[in-house]
Amino acid sequence: MKLIVTGGAGFIGGNFVHYLLNKHKDYEVICLDKLTYAGNLESLKSVMSNQNFKFIRGDITDRDTIFSVFTQERPNIVVNFAAESHVDRSIEDPSIFLQTNVIGTQVLLDACRKHRIDRFHQVSTDEVYGDLPLDRPDLFFTEETPIHTSSPYSASKAAADLLVQAYHRTYGLPITISRCSNNYGPYHFPEKLIPLMIANALNDKPLPVYGKGENIRDWLYVEDHCSAIDLILHKGTVGEIYNIGGHNERTNLEVVQTIIRELGKGKIQFVKDRAGHDLRYAINPNKIHKELNWLPATNFDEGIKKTIQWYLDNRFWWESIISGEYQNYYEKMYGNR
Ligand code: NAD
Ligand code: TYD
Repeated sequence: MKLIVTGGAGFIGGNFVHYLLNKHKDYEVICLDKLTYAGNLESLKSVMSNQNFKFIRGDITDRDTIFSVFTQERPNIVVNFAAESHVDRSIEDPSIFLQTNVIGTQVLLDACRKHRIDRFHQVSTDEVYGDLPLDRPDLFFTEETPIHTSSPYSASKAAADLLVQAYHRTYGLPITISRCSNNYGPYHFPEKLIPLMIANALNDKPLPVYGKGENIRDWLYVEDHCSAIDLILHKGTVGEIYNIGGHNERTNLEVVQTIIRELGKGKIQFVKDRAGHDLRYAINPNKIHKELNWLPATNFDEGIKKTIQWYLDNRFWWESIISGEYQNYYEKMYGNR
């Protein structure tokens, strides 16, 4: 079995590469990644010398490169994690989100069609469903919830999902799609809520909470996302969408207060809200549980402790990221907030 994992130098893709190589010792895994600001080869350092692993630097929007990689490598399975993934950046400038998330997905789909791939798996997000009201805790996203996006990021992910489904219906391409809730864990880029708050607290910087901090996210430990995708690849039904989530809803304020408590330091600063800020995400994971017998192994209380410990043990990993270009980004996003 030979897999191409696009975006494998990023947060979830990197965790998935480690997961695959550990779990399936006979699989060949190729990470194809452009190495944008979010890609970091340091996250793959421990597998670089693994004989079953290969890294190829490439851009999924570059048709010639992608087609020649497919011709050369002849993969059976492609798992597409490659994306621009940060909502705040998509609000600043949507263009690259459309380019990578939509056109890049189309290039991959075309290459998969040409090479009669066994499976194309699209890693999508619960954000394609839009948001739920804060005062209706009885409501959850199912696979039948209509697409109703809020940010340029989620709009681009929804467009990609529709394209993936169109390639299945029109050309019979064997696809699956997963829509997961917010992930957290090792190798998470410190522009996202949890790693940002850990890094700021450790560096005695204020912890910027948008609005009143009442927005709710449904947090999943990244390894549980990896196990779900692995299961979908092996046992999922072609053409289907699977929601992934573990009923770990928390308000942003609760998340940040937990981090402060665990670290014994950190000062919250309420800042201007995000434009179009989604109120609540909450996944109904019944389908993947019933059909594939998937359940998450790590709950939030345990996972946040493991994550904080990882950031304490791997300071060099995130400290090297938050120097240089990141400083410009931080100043632009938070300077006048
Ligand atoms: P990330 O930003 O950490 O990593 C993205 C990776 O894609 C990086 O390594 C980057 O270099 C690479 N990349 C970007 N543009 C590329 C291009 N044109 N060609 C090749 N590689 C390119 O993202 P993440 O948080 O790991 O998310 C991975 C996927 O999972 C995304 O598709 C995202 O939409 C989805 N997702 C994320 C979450 C979450 O909580 N982070 C939740 C659900 C779904
Ligand atoms: P984020 O990690 O960007 O993920 P997403 O927007 O895809 O859910 O943000 C998670 C939540 O945390 C979201 O409600 C926005 C909020 N947030 C803050 O309050 N402060 C911050 O500095 C960041 C980055 C996010």
